[in-house]
Parts: sequence; structure tokens; C-alpha cells
Amino acid sequence: MGSGIAQVASQSGHEVVLFDTNAEQLDKAKGKLAKIMARLIEKGRVTSQDSEAIQNRITYITSMNDFAGSGLIIEAIIENIDIKKKVFADLENIVDGNCILASNTSSLSIASIAAACIKSDRVIGIHFFNPAPLMPLVEIVPAVQTSDATTTAARDLIDSWKKITVLTKDTPGFIVNRVARPFYGEALKIYEEGVADFATIDWAMTELGGFRMGPFTLMDYIGNDINYTVTETVFKAFYYDPRYRPSFTQKRHSEAGWFGRKSGRGYYDYSQGATKSAPNTDTEVGTQILNRILVLLINEAIDAVFLNIASPKDVDLAMTKGVNYPKGLLQWGNEIGLSNVLAQLDTLHAEYGDDKYRASVLLRRMVKSGESFNF
Ligand SMILES: NC(=O)c1ccc[n+]([C@@H]2O[C@H](COP(=O)([O-])OP(=O)(O)OC[C@H]3O[C@@H](n4cnc5c(N)ncnc54)[C@H](O)[C@@H]3O)[C@@H](O)[C@H]2O)c1
Repeated sequence: MGSGIAQVASQSGHEVVLFDTNAEQLDKAKGKLAKIMARLIEKGRVTSQDSEAIQNRITYITSMNDFAGSGLIIEAIIENIDIKKKVFADLENIVDGNCILASNTSSLSIASIAAACIKSDRVIGIHFFNPAPLMPLVEIVPAVQTSDATTTAARDLIDSWKKITVLTKDTPGFIVNRVARPFYGEALKIYEEGVADFATIDWAMTELGGFRMGPFTLMDYIGNDINYTVTETVFKAFYYDPRYRPSFTQKRHSEAGWFGRKSGRGYYDYSQGATKSAPNTDTEVGTQILNRILVLLINEAIDAVFLNIASPKDVDLAMTKGVNYPKGLLQWGNEIGLSNVLAQLDTLHAEYGDDKYRASVLLRRMVKSGESFNF
């Protein structure tokens, strides 16, 4: 992630220094950028002069002391709170008082990272999506300690990098990784119940729902190890709320080393010559699958608004620009009718007796008063 973020900053005209404790990673980052730039020249997206300037603006450093004089540092190191805290505390001894210190963490609390700093009001989350140069969304995550001046300066800067920023509370999964959980979790549950196989569930979500990738193809792409860990982290961080309960199927796939594309096998077989089983294209079954996942996604989006995680506009922007959903979930809820969403959730809740399916209080209130979302 770090090298992608460095590319974005350099493309926006900044002098960038890129640091890694592992020098090999720096060489890799340099080589990767050269390849990306060559491809962009071929496609006519950048001139060779621009490409050279973008690459020359990045200096690869092997000592943190070379961060001195920086205006902003975006940390994108290993997802480990103790290591991150140590790095932030060390950085404070190197940079001056005006430097903003940001973390690209996907799952750790910004407040706990900020607590490692004396001037904690300069610490903020700036969460990019992978690959950073291609994905337009950036979540801006002020901690309880972050000053308004830091938030405004960070957001203005990232906006100037032609990214779409959304403001989110410092809570597990921020917007995208919280709201998206049922896309994976409910798909896995539907499979576990024997309703349909992976190919059929993926078909329903792409062909009937308009999602760019089905849940199983996407989990294989992200990596089942990574996706399982995010789910488990969010589940624990929400004090074991059943809405975020992980799945044994994914855990076993991860334990077996069936991570997905990167290991050659996940829910699908990626070895040469392997064939994919055909989906059952019965639209009645497909519609049931789509609706079950969709109402849970809409419910999560509504609950994020209810708990002031983000504004309705930012929740919809986050899902369309961060994970390419075909429509904002609140907009989708408006279109299929919030009372219809509530009725489906209440049916599932009554049938399963599982709080996983409980409707958001905001959804219930909106249905009662006949409201819908206005953007
Ligand atoms: N990969 C994603 O899709 C993604 C998306 C959004 C955010 N993130 C976040 O970005 C961060 C990095 O993720 P990644 O996937 O790029 O990880 P990665 O393992 O690919 O890269 C991490 C890099 O940090 C280096 N590193 C480790 N300790 C260091 C230290 N003390 N100082 C300097 N460098 C150190 C490693 O050598 C490695 O090159 C994590 O916080 C992750 O949550 C990742």
C-alpha cells in the first residue's frame, strides 16, 4: 500500500520520501513504479517527461531521520498496534510540530495510535483502498484527540490529490469494512445452509445484483486469510455482535492454505486448465440469494448512519467509490422501499431467532414515519 500512496502523492506534485525497514521492499517498490509508469506511457496516460518527474520526486530512504522537514507522513506498515505506536512515538522526535502524522490502518483504533504521541491532536487516519492509485475513495478518520485543524488540512490535501474523501468516526472497520461485512458473511452462510454453491451465489450477485464481482470471487481475490482476519477483528472489536460473526467455512479455507488466487486455490481452483462449475441460473433462487444479502447490507448502511459513523451521503459514496458497489446502499433502500427491507429482515429474524438479522432502530423509525433518505 505504501508504494501506491507514494505514487499518488508524487503524481500530485509532492516531493516524497518512502521508508521501509526492509531495503528489498524499497527496491521492489521502485521497480513496480517503473513498470506502472511504462504501462501508463504506453497507454498515453502520461508523457515520458511526467513519468520521469513522478519517479524522480520519490526518494527511497533507509533511515527515519530523513523524514525531518516533512509536512505529512502516512504510515502504511504492518498491522500491529505496538509496532505502529513505537513508530509514531519515534517520528515525533524527528519531525517538527506542524507535521501531520497519519495512519493507513484498516482495523486499528486511531485513538490508540494517537495516544503514543505527545502532540496527539496532529494524528489522524487516512485510509486508502487498494490499489491506491486506482481506487478513488479515501476515508478520513479523526480520533477523539484529533484537532479540527488537522482534519481540515488532511481532508483538503487528499481532496487536492483528486481523491473522493469521506469523513468517518474512529470505529471498527470505519465505513467500508464495517458496512461490507454481510456481503461476505451472509454469502458464506447461504452456502453453509446448502441453499446454493459458490458459483450460483456469485452469479446471483453479479448478474441479478449488478455487483462487479461475486462474494466468493472477491474473497479469493482479497485472500481468505486477510478477509477472515478483518472479519474476526471487526467481530471482536464490536464485542461479539452476531451481525459480524465470522464463518467456519472461511476459517477452514484459510487454515488449509486455500487463500484464493495468490495460493492457486480458494473457493475456486486457479490452477492451469481447471474448470469452474456452472451456476444454477434459476432466477427465483438467485433473487432470494440477492435479496437476503442486500437487505443485510442496506441495514448495515442505515445503522452506520444511525450511530453517526458517517453522513448518509458519505456512506453511499464510500460503498460506490471504495468497493465499486453498483449503487449506494441507502439509495438502493429507497428504491426497493425501506418498508420492504424491514419486512424481509423481520422475517429472517423471526425464522432464525438470531440477532444477526435484527433491524436497525433507524430503519424501524423511518418506516414508521414514512421517511426515506434525502441526499
Ligand atoms: N493491503 C490492503 O488492501 C490495505 C488496504 C488499506 C489499508 N491497508 C493498511 O496498510 C498497512 C500496510 O498494509 P500492506 O498490505 O501494504 O502490508 P505489507 O505487509 O504489504 O507492507 C507493509 C510494509 O511495512 C514494512 N514495515 C514493517 N515494519 C516496519 C517498520 N517498523 N517501519 C517501516 N516499515 C515497516 C514491511 O517491510 C512491508 O514492506 C496496514 O496498516 C493495512 O491495514 C492495507
